[in-house]
Amino acid sequence: MRRRRKITDRTRAAMLSVPRPLFLPEDVRAYAAEDRPLPLGHGQTNSQPTTVAHMLSQLDPQPGDRVLDVGSGSGWTAALLAHLVDRQDLVYAVERVPELVNLARTQLTAAGFGQVTLEQADPDVLGMPSRAPFDKILVSAEAPSLPDALMLQVAAGGRLVIPVAGRLLVVDRSQSGEITVRRLGRYAFVPLRWTGRG
Ligand SMILES: C[S@@+](CC[C@H](N)C(=O)[O-])C[C@H]1O[C@@H](n2cnc3c(N)ncnc32)[C@H](O)[C@@H]1O
Repeated sequence: MRRRRKITDRTRAAMLSVPRPLFLPEDVRAYAAEDRPLPLGHGQTNSQPTTVAHMLSQLDPQPGDRVLDVGSGSGWTAALLAHLVDRQDLVYAVERVPELVNLARTQLTAAGFGQVTLEQADPDVLGMPSRAPFDKILVSAEAPSLPDALMLQVAAGGRLVIPVAGRLLVVDRSQSGEITVRRLGRYAFVPLRWTGRG
């Protein structure tokens, strides 16, 4: 299947309004304009900007949507989502690495996105079921298969964008609960890690 490369105007505008360098560790900030993943430390990366743009364009968050950012890393995607839904308090973010939770919290506050809810991931729990359902869920780490735990957190009429086994998947839940899955192009991501119990 051909990779869908369409980037929406709203995504472009968000990426101009929420600059990547604000969310990068100082030692890699000089490389922010390069279209490649950049290290955040702890074996994790800030994703390549064109990949972030494709994912956000597919997710298509609208003003007023409740959204979840799984694998918030630097906090950049959470801030982009807050810009796109036009309300910080509708954005929930979860990150596995405690040091990155602290980094993202600092960067989000400094960049004016202090009302985003950011939590440390429980190793047994995927996503944020306590705050579900979400209209849109963005996952920035790769799962081996489509996790039921996240599917259950998608609202009726909602959407999940997630890399699964090397491909980007766009998963829609209709108002009547029917699930459709579109498989897009190949992307490389760090692995989504959890015990699989939750
Ligand atoms: C490619 S990085 C994220 C980039 C990030 N969205 C940004 O804007 O900088 C993927 C992140 O997913 C995190 N991660 C992996 N498994 C996770 C899980 N089960 N729950 C939450 N975060 C997880 C990793 O620690 C890593 O920081």
